[in-house]
Parts: sequence; C-alpha cells; structure tokens
Amino acid sequence: MAGGASGPPLAAAVCGAGALGFLAAGYKTAEAMTAEIAELRAATGLPFGVNLFVPGEAAEGAAAGQVGAYRDRLAPEAARLGVALGEVPPHGLDDDWDAKVAALLADPVAVVSFTFGCPDRGVLADFRARGTATAVTVTTPEEAERAAAAGPDLLIVQGVEAGAHQGRWDNDAEAGTEPYGLLALLGLVRAVTTLPYVAAGGIMTGEQVAAVLAAGAVAAQLGTAFLRCPESGAPAPYKAALADARYDRTRLTRAFSGRPARGLVNGFLARNDAYAPAAYPEVHYATATLRRASAAAGDPEAMALWAGQGWRLARDEPAAAVVKRLADELAAARED
Ligand SMILES: Cc1cc2nc3c(=O)[nH]c(=O)nc-3n(C[C@H](O)[C@H](O)[C@H](O)COP(=O)(O)O)c2cc1C
Repeated sequence: MAGGASGPPLAAAVCGAGALGFLAAGYKTAEAMTAEIAELRAATGLPFGVNLFVPGEAAEGAAAGQVGAYRDRLAPEAARLGVALGEVPPHGLDDDWDAKVAALLADPVAVVSFTFGCPDRGVLADFRARGTATAVTVTTPEEAERAAAAGPDLLIVQGVEAGAHQGRWDNDAEAGTEPYGLLALLGLVRAVTTLPYVAAGGIMTGEQVAAVLAAGAVAAQLGTAFLRCPESGAPAPYKAALADARYDRTRLTRAFSGRPARGLVNGFLARNDAYAPAAYPEVHYATATLRRASAAAGDPEAMALWAGQGWRLARDEPAAAVVKRLADELAAARED
C-alpha cells in the first residue's frame, strides 16, 4: 500500500505474524525504497515482498489540456488549504522504474509484485534467475492472458471491491470496461491460464479467505484490513475517517490521482470526481500538496481516504492480531 501505510513497521509485523508483508515502493525514489528494505531487514529476518508501479504514458495532447483545466478547477481548493498545487517530480513520470529494478536485481528480495502493467518478459526472467518470485496484478481476463504470456510466477487477481487503485493496465477512460467483481474474475482468469493466482479485493475475514481459496486462489491479499493497525503509516485523520459513521460509502474515482481508485466519499471527491481527467501521474502529483495539507490540518475532507468495500470491518488492532484472527477464522471455516 503506497502512500504511507505499508512501510517497514507494518510489513515487519505482518511477516512476524506468519503472513507475507509487502513494502510499497510506489511514488518513492529507488534510494528511498532501498533504505526501507534495509530497515525492514534489520527488523525481521523473514521473507517479504516489494511492490512496484509499472510506468505508463505521460499525458499528451488532449489529455495534457484536460490536466490544465483540472488544475484550474483545483486552484481554489489549494488556496483554501494555503498551498500551491504540486508538480511531477523528476522521478515521477516513470516512478524511477529502471533504478528500482536494478536495485532489486542487485540485492534480491523474496517476491516482487507489479501493478498498472506487466514488465517485459526479460525483466521477469531476470528476477527469476535471482530467485525472486514475480506477481503481476490483473483486473480483466485479457490482462491475465497477456500477463501469463510474459512468464511471471503468480498473478494477483484484483476485483472492483479493492481499496485504492485498480491495477488496470490501460488508464484510457474510453478503453475501460466496467470493472469485474472478484469472484467472477477468478473464474474468468482460471479459464484463460493455469498460473497460480492470489485473490484481492474486499477480503476482510477468514471466511472470505476460505471462499477465495475454494475459488482456486493460492492466497488472499488484503489491504484495507490493515489500514487502522497501529503499525500502519496511514495518517491519523485517515484512520479516524475509516471508523467515522459520517463516511458511509466508497466509490471509484480519478479525482485524486487521474487513475480509478476506491476511497471513502468525502468533500473533495464529491466536488471533483466528475471533472478529473484520465491523466496519471499528473493528477496524483497536482493533488499531493493539498492532500498533505489536509492531513496536516487533521481534516480528512481533502485527503484520499482509500478504502475497499469491506472497510467497515477494519479494526484498530495490532497487525499480528489481524493475521491471527484471519488464520483462526480460516481454520474454523475449513472445519465446517
Ligand atoms: C491505501 C492503499 C494503498 C494501496 N497501494 C497499492 C500499491 O501501492 N500497489 C498495489 O499493487 N496495490 C495497492 N493497493 C491495492 C492492494 O494491493 C489490494 O489490491 C487491495 O488492498 C485489496 O483490496 P482491500 O483493500 O479491499 O483488501 C492499495 C490499497 C490500499 C487500501
């Protein structure tokens, strides 16, 4: 979980409890990723994963014009919070992809997962040669078929229920079909590939883990269930909003980042959703300053409150307790 939640403390706690914790490398420089890997290694000798964003195309032509119009629309929001809109940093367009891949090949970790696209066959083969397992996130059967052809070890099948960004490869607004629900997608993916898959989206309990294992998954991937944990680096107003009855629904929006992502509906989302262009990472970096200012002011109304559809079941308890409860519920479900 990029954006602060999944740093070394949460990953270490999850690994220590017997699950596979991940470090989020997205938005960071390769240098920052490497520093977090060192910190996590110092905290745990256990295997862990690192998640990378596969870079896409920069906004050009009409999309660039839409970014300008959206920035104009957001200017009063930024002024109200006393900040200027952000700019894409030097590493922002490609997310420091080459340097991150080079660093992970030079000093391998157990698993590398990818979202927003699929690396070239050669990159996946390089990871395999160094003993790193690779997992590619897919949101449609077509993406699954293309991913399988590139030769990863695993797929991560992400349903529409999932918190934060949909991993869909093509951010073109017109190209998107309505996103698939997880259970339907698991069946459709199994029909096009025999690769093992991990299920993600809306899973909050051990019974639901049992359900996706019954549907052919080898594991479940959970994000939202860990957001309120003390080890999660999510800012305090975000954690509070997840437990605040004022926030009573989630939806997919491009308002914060220019890519479809699921979050609690707050004022910023409601005001701007209809106007946000399909331009990532330009919109992400434009809103970064005002999201940070909103968090610093303790006000969740202009923050990206990413949450999966099951968010009401997220608890404020240590990550080890979440993992143990999931394991106990899974064991009980399997005895039935
Ligand atoms: C706050 C947040 C940040 C996320 N960041 C990433 C990310 O950086 N990379 C990624 O592959 N998935 C990311 N995800 C999606 C998760 O990998 C996973 O698909 C999702 O959390 C599953 O749905 P759930 O949140 O309902 O459990 C994020 C999810 C959340 C809630």
